[in-house]
Amino acid sequence: MATTRRKFLRTLGTSSSLLLAGLPALADQTQVQQLLSSVKVSANDKVRIALIGAGIIGHYDTETALKVPGVELVAVCDLYQGRLDRAREKWGKDIFVTRNYKEVLSRKDIDAVLVCTCDHWHDHITIDALKAGKHVYCEKPMVHHVDEGLAVVAAQKASGKVLEVGSQSASSVLFLEAAKYYKQGIIGDLAYAEAYTDRNSANGAWQYTIPSDASPKTIDWDMFLGDAPKVPFDPVRFFHWRNYKAYGTGVAGDLFVHNFTALHTVTGSKGPDTIYAAGALNYWKDGRDAYDIVSGIMRYPKTAEHNSFQFFTRVNLADGAGGGSGNRFIGTEGVIEVKWNSISIKHFKRPVAPGIGGYDSLESFPKAMQESLLAEYNARYSAEDKKAKQGDEIIFEAPKGYDSRLDHMINFFEAIRTNQPILEDASFGLRAAGPAILCNTSVEKNAAIHWDPVAMKVIPAKA
Ligand SMILES: NC(=O)c1ccc[n+]([C@@H]2O[C@H](COP(=O)([O-])OP(=O)(O)OC[C@H]3O[C@@H](n4cnc5c(N)ncnc54)[C@H](O)[C@@H]3O)[C@@H](O)[C@H]2O)c1
Repeated sequence: MATTRRKFLRTLGTSSSLLLAGLPALADQTQVQQLLSSVKVSANDKVRIALIGAGIIGHYDTETALKVPGVELVAVCDLYQGRLDRAREKWGKDIFVTRNYKEVLSRKDIDAVLVCTCDHWHDHITIDALKAGKHVYCEKPMVHHVDEGLAVVAAQKASGKVLEVGSQSASSVLFLEAAKYYKQGIIGDLAYAEAYTDRNSANGAWQYTIPSDASPKTIDWDMFLGDAPKVPFDPVRFFHWRNYKAYGTGVAGDLFVHNFTALHTVTGSKGPDTIYAAGALNYWKDGRDAYDIVSGIMRYPKTAEHNSFQFFTRVNLADGAGGGSGNRFIGTEGVIEVKWNSISIKHFKRPVAPGIGGYDSLESFPKAMQESLLAEYNARYSAEDKKAKQGDEIIFEAPKGYDSRLDHMINFFEAIRTNQPILEDASFGLRAAGPAILCNTSVEKNAAIHWDPVAMKVIPAKA
């Protein structure tokens, strides 16, 4: 099979080699997904932002937001003093810093906030920010518990402000290009999709470095606990919050959510109706109560956007096979595989003739019957009918160093400036977070969970 390599450039490529011989041309085949970051973005009107939650991803998100023309950082909020000191060291001593996010929200000179706190604070801060008239970029998963989601959706609608959830696959050229091919039917009907994340390091299992001065003086412990059960000060819980169900959503909420985002971006699906998962804590027995391996199986019902299909997803934090991640969309006539910085599409058409002989019942019939069945078959099907039509493998590569987070931020600020709807809004965010978090529920209940992906509600089990 030939291979066609293409870069994600703004130019148009050739189309002929991408098509299966004898098959109708696919619409819009030549238009390659644009890199938003290569398009001129308007710097008119300053958008002034504040970061709430200045931990690991807060730094990535802020630095990325500041690459978008016209974006200015005004304030940083965090509960650990060292992170406020670091913010001033990095972004200038004039930025306003505070441990209380309400002091950020009450400032008139802030248009938008990046909510990069631990999961159990997402809904509270997002809703308060929308009510205060701020646009919100809320890190994934949008909520800590599924039943918090509809309040966020309602707050976004009532505010008329932009809310983008920070799962950047929704703006990635890789998944958007995959979506174009999927929608053109190049892989036939989707039969199943699979996505995995495997890790093999302590940092990958969320045992991040704890600062040497962590104490109740340098950390606002009561604020951190928020709506979680009251427990004595514990720096491990504060800096390794993901490992505890009271503050995080475990590997399913934290990482499956990216896989749901990717799947829904490619297929246009609203979500599964049945969710089942198995989970265990096998390796990282460091006091955590969250699982380190979870496998989920989802049933997606037939809708206008897709056939009925199954979705398998897994996270293993103690992977002895080298780690890695991937997404595959497997249809009846091909597969789209999304890797770290590229996608590959393999596609074919089955022969018209069903085939005869080989691993078949033919050999078990009397000789004379075999001969007459073969003669009948050859009279019925031409040589062309007997051939499978194999398409060229299509490979797209994003430019080296491509950053989907930047495209995601560009979408956020463009939506603020143009007042246009955004793909990964609160409903999209809940439709990705909901089934991800419900995988934990399924493990805990050892039962399938039924979900209404349109209404975004759990369907209670019949008594
Ligand atoms: N989109 C992505 O690729 C991606 C990657 C990593 C993390 N995340 C998400 O980002 C969020 C943060 O993750 P992280 O790894 O940066 O965690 P982190 O522990 O490094 O940082 C979280 C920070 O939030 C602060 N915080 C907590 N509650 C607060 C409150 N009420 N007010 C102000 N600050 C508060 C803490 O002090 C801490 O510094 C999580 O929800 C995570 O799922 C997204």
